[in-house]
Amino acid sequence: MENEGMKINRREFLEQVGMGVAAIGALPATELFGLNGRAIGANDRIRIGLIGAGDRGQQDLKDALKQPNVECVAVADVFSQRREQVKSYLPNVETYDDPRRLLDRKDIDAVINATPLHLHAKYFLASLAAGKDLYSEKTMTWDIPEAVACRNAAKASKQVVQIGLQHESSGELADAKQWIQNGSVGKITMVESWMSRNTPLGQGQWVRPVPSDCNPANVNWDLFLDGRPKVPFDGYKFINWRLFWEFSGGNITENMVHQISWIISAMDLQLPKAATMMGGVFSEKDGRQVPDTIGVSLEYPNDVLVLWQSTFNNRRYGLGEHFLGSKGSIEHVSGSTDMVTGKYSSGINYYPEKINNPDGAPHKGENPGVNHMANWMACIRDRKQPNATVEIGYLSAIAAHMSNLAYLQKRRVTLEEAMAAKPEAWMKPV
Ligand SMILES: NC(=O)c1ccc[n+]([C@@H]2O[C@H](COP(=O)([O-])OP(=O)(O)OC[C@H]3O[C@@H](n4cnc5c(N)ncnc54)[C@H](O)[C@@H]3O)[C@@H](O)[C@H]2O)c1
Repeated sequence: MENEGMKINRREFLEQVGMGVAAIGALPATELFGLNGRAIGANDRIRIGLIGAGDRGQQDLKDALKQPNVECVAVADVFSQRREQVKSYLPNVETYDDPRRLLDRKDIDAVINATPLHLHAKYFLASLAAGKDLYSEKTMTWDIPEAVACRNAAKASKQVVQIGLQHESSGELADAKQWIQNGSVGKITMVESWMSRNTPLGQGQWVRPVPSDCNPANVNWDLFLDGRPKVPFDGYKFINWRLFWEFSGGNITENMVHQISWIISAMDLQLPKAATMMGGVFSEKDGRQVPDTIGVSLEYPNDVLVLWQSTFNNRRYGLGEHFLGSKGSIEHVSGSTDMVTGKYSSGINYYPEKINNPDGAPHKGENPGVNHMANWMACIRDRKQPNATVEIGYLSAIAAHMSNLAYLQKRRVTLEEAMAAKPEAWMKPV
């Protein structure tokens, strides 16, 4: 029964997607450039709206408001507490529980979408269909069919879309690309990457307390479920949606996606040929469905194996990547604890492999990064492609969803199998 409800809703969803794309195609060209078809000049004010004013949405909003000539005119969130929080520092902002009302406004140029993962695609497509430029949080979508639909819609539209993969704007990425492209690293056959965190014993990673005013009177629960099987209000699931497959992809879509997109961009990779993923809920058995201990392997064309591992039980090594090439290595670390000094260590370095590169010398990365939100705003003004394109959003989403599919199906999953998978496949383990 659960799945039956899901199927009907998914079919309807995909029909809506088709309509969304058609609607975009039918728009007059002038409607494709923000407010009333106007091109937004260097000194014009950009008027934004926020959909999903939770922790990240409010961070994104504050970041956006630090950029010159930007104003937030409207916020949509299904939880009254979140709307009131924004009102407390932006008293003139208009608030709505249903994002549709925000998207219907003609005086909004651009939208930030920071809803839970299962809603990303819905508001991604609706924002483009409404002619808004878009900053859409990672992971681009909850499953593969949605990633395909969003990519198609973005291709058919002239809107500027930045995905919330902010490491695409980092200086370290420019360093890595430079060393790979100038041949210093040689043939890379393996990339190791990892991400580790810890929490006090008994307190699972990500678990948030349910606020006392989180109840059906203050939350539009149906709009949160958005076609997921209808169940009575559950404040714990609403606040801790990250822990449940229906709404989340766990740490793969929360964190691996940042690193995998970074690796894809550095090496100019496309889609993986196959994925495996093992692990489980090993750290805190608190009722969560998504694993806290993970080992992923992604096989890419042209002899590249990318590994990603993650634990919520130990934080010593922070996160990082090692690109292992025949002529050299790239070591990128962030937040690891230095074994000797105990100090926080971060940065990117190149080390030659003396056996094939006897004259090579070590290098420290020096490229400056740019602020990801500033990059989006600049692109809204000059209509260029932002740093985290829909294409990198798509490639990283497919790699993430293939990994989760391998875990849920307890087997190696090929690209072809993953592309043919139905949304139900991401709902629960086989
Ligand atoms: N780029 C990054 O580094 C980064 C960091 C953290 C989170 N994120 C992403 O941001 C997104 C939000 O994460 P969060 O931690 O802020 O979650 P959150 O639960 O704090 O916020 C989500 C908000 O969306 C609201 N919401 C739910 N359904 C809605 C609907 N139908 N319409 C409008 N609003 C709705 C909720 O009430 C909530 O306020 C996630 O996709 C997450 O992966 C990205």
